Amino acid sequence: MNLNQIINQKVQSAFEKAGYPNAQLLVRLSDRPDISDYQSNGALPLAKQLKTNPRVVAESIVSHLKEDAFFEKVTVDGPGFINMTISNNALSEIAYDILSQEKSGYERLTPPKKVVLDYGGPNVAKALHVGHLRPAIIGESLKRLHAFAGDEVIGDVHLGDWGLPMGLLMAELSERHPDLVYFDPTYEGEYPSETPFTGKDLEVMYPIASKKSKENPEYLLKAKDFTRRLQNKEKGLLALLNGFVCLSVSDIKKMYDELGVSFELWRGEKDVHDRLLKMVERLRLNAVMYKDNGAEIIDAGVSKSGNELPPMIMINSEGAVMYAATDLATIEERVEEFNADEILYVVDSRQSLHFEQVFNVAEKIGLLKKTTVKHLGFGTINGKDNKPFKTRDGGVMTLRMLIDMATNAALDKMNSGEMGRDLTDAEKDEISRIVGVSALKFADLMNERMKNYIFDEDKLTSTEGKTGPYLLYAMVRMKSLLEKSGETIELKKEDIPVITMPAERSLLLRLYAMPDSVQTAYDNNAPHVICDYLFKLAQDFNLFYHDCPIKDASEAEKKSRLALTKYALSVALKMAYVLGLKVPDKM
Ligand code: ARG
Repeated sequence: MNLNQIINQKVQSAFEKAGYPNAQLLVRLSDRPDISDYQSNGALPLAKQLKTNPRVVAESIVSHLKEDAFFEKVTVDGPGFINMTISNNALSEIAYDILSQEKSGYERLTPPKKVVLDYGGPNVAKALHVGHLRPAIIGESLKRLHAFAGDEVIGDVHLGDWGLPMGLLMAELSERHPDLVYFDPTYEGEYPSETPFTGKDLEVMYPIASKKSKENPEYLLKAKDFTRRLQNKEKGLLALLNGFVCLSVSDIKKMYDELGVSFELWRGEKDVHDRLLKMVERLRLNAVMYKDNGAEIIDAGVSKSGNELPPMIMINSEGAVMYAATDLATIEERVEEFNADEILYVVDSRQSLHFEQVFNVAEKIGLLKKTTVKHLGFGTINGKDNKPFKTRDGGVMTLRMLIDMATNAALDKMNSGEMGRDLTDAEKDEISRIVGVSALKFADLMNERMKNYIFDEDKLTSTEGKTGPYLLYAMVRMKSLLEKSGETIELKKEDIPVITMPAERSLLLRLYAMPDSVQTAYDNNAPHVICDYLFKLAQDFNLFYHDCPIKDASEAEKKSRLALTKYALSVALKMAYVLGLKVPDKM
């Protein structure tokens, strides 16, 4: 049960008593918090239906609500809006029952779903770069949001490990070390357990290979031939690929770890290859797929906006399976193996055409009978010139650089005294990493997903304004208030927040409003809604902290204010967790 549900029940019963048991209640948080807490607009459509005056209908409902001591004030305003103000007493009495629940009152109303979330998309042998930050951060947060809302969620990294980039890498390696046993198709022995190259070697080799392939057609042919041989499962090349993947995955994992991002599944494009071949056989038989200039393609129908989409290429004229084909087979895997009700792709908006093609074809070949698929795109991260973020000399901004910029900026602020005044140097070092990463994540998540934003490490680590550190500060303050008075976060029945000041009332109401924000964020796959919520909660808390001091208060006030602090901290930490933000104990 949460406050919204309590109000709904009371309004329902008032409508019933007034003789309208089947009316729509249209209850919601008031959009005029200065005059009421909740409103019901149900009298308006009802009066229209009955062809009477809505104010008269509203008055008859209000007369019943007024009998309930839960409300301090109930009025009819405007053409027939019912405005309700809850009594302070009621607000404090329900605190424990609602806020001590595991999800602080959030309740799911629809059956839970099984959701596969595809949000990593790193590529073997390529360093993670600025383009990998948003899918990782947004995807992780959406995973936690869906789990909080009661879904069963599986995060899959969907590694890029199967196409031409692998052939390019093999071509380059074979030029450098033609004698490696991997390249000898007649080799029968064991393959080396340790690769004769490092992850760094691969990261260096890949851009070189890519450049050469653009300048030298022969080199490109060689890479394509390796790709084809790999996809035909030549033993040595599979062993080599395995070596690439192991090295890359261990580097990639370390980086995601630093960001607090994790995956349940570490599958890649290569893992659906067998499934893909079977799929191709079937599609050839039923003629959905047809030959076109040596390639095999499928018509992709029209886009959501009504434009004809280019056909989707399954196999190119050189016989290699394409990116879209692996995605198609992966949908089948997720439907058959995991019974997914929903598959969500947190992938750059610039791939929207690709996903429209894949989804249309998946629908056409009958993969989506009980599964919905959605591409959740996002905008780019820009530099201060508002162009896609690059290094000063125009190079690729790696994820390493971005994390370092944020954590160094946080450390600078600690050294200048903007935060961390009571920390030792060792603590500053450790805590600036937590604060830097949380700041980076919050700055990303607080923007509406589809919008571009400007990366400004100085701004995003500021303790003022809508920033990660501002929120963390509020939570650290809550923690330290409790610690100083020997309290823990554990909620007890006798934790009753008594309202004596407006700031206490606003803070408590904010806590009760959490389920609405979670629901909106969930319905729209929009973590920024949780960011807004947590920011407002921090603001409300800071006002409370300022207006309602604990130090010189009476025993009763002290108890009540500490109780409110506990409730605030428990809700705030849950929302910080949903966003994937780590909260230090001091800063
Ligand atoms: N590896 C891909 C890339 O770098 C992104 C993969 C996104 N996920 C997917 N299922 N296609 O563009």
